[in-house]
Amino acid sequence: MARLPLHPDIETELITEEAIKQRVAELGAELKRVYGNEELTFISVMNGAILFTADLLRQIDNPVRLDCIRISSYGNATESHGTPKLVHSLMLDVTGRHVLLVDDILDTGKTLSLVAGMIRGLQPASMRVCVLLDKKGRRQVPFEADFVGFKIPDKFVVGYGLDYAERYRNLPSIGVLKAERQKLPG
Ligand code: IMP
Ligand code: MG
Repeated sequence: MARLPLHPDIETELITEEAIKQRVAELGAELKRVYGNEELTFISVMNGAILFTADLLRQIDNPVRLDCIRISSYGNATESHGTPKLVHSLMLDVTGRHVLLVDDILDTGKTLSLVAGMIRGLQPASMRVCVLLDKKGRRQVPFEADFVGFKIPDKFVVGYGLDYAERYRNLPSIGVLKAERQKLPG
C-alpha cells in the first residue's frame, strides 16, 4: 500500500497506519470473545470516533446497530474547557441492549463519565467502553475503558479522526502536532 509522506505539521508519528489496522483487528477479536454472536448497539462519540468506529464495526460479523452522540468539550483549544455538554443525543433506544460506547481518546475522563452515566440511566442490558487511545496520566475523574487500543503519553495527538481545531482528522496515522501548529489557525 502506498504511504503518504508525513504531514509537515506533524512532529513525530506515534502510531502508524499499519499498527492502527492491526490493533483494530485485534480489538474486533476481543469484542467477539466477549460478546459471541450477541447483537451490539455501538454508540460513537462524534466527531473524533467516527473513523475508528467505522473500521471497528467491520471487524465483527455480529448484528450491529449504530448511533452517534455529540459532546462539546474542547472548542478550538488543546486543553479541555470545563464541563462537557451533550449537544446531540441518541436516536436509538438502548434499554435492554448491549451497548458499546466508542470514543477516540480517553483523556481527563470527563466526556466518557458523562456519556456513560447517561447511558447507564437508560438501563441497557450491558454497557462497555472502547477507546482507541488512553492518556492515562491525564485523568481528572476516575474512569477506565473496557477495551483500549493504545496507551499513549501526555502529548496532543491528531490523525485518524482526532483533530486540532477540526483539522487533521483525515491523516491516516496518529502523530504529535508540532508546537508551533498548536495555535488557533485563521
Ligand atoms: P476528556 O473528556 O478530557 O476525556 O476528553 C476526551 C475528548 O477530548 C476526546 O473525545 C477528544 O475529542 C478530545 N481530546 C483529548 N485529547 C486529545 C488529543 O490529544 N487530540 C485530539 N483530541 C483530544
Ligand atoms: Mg472527541
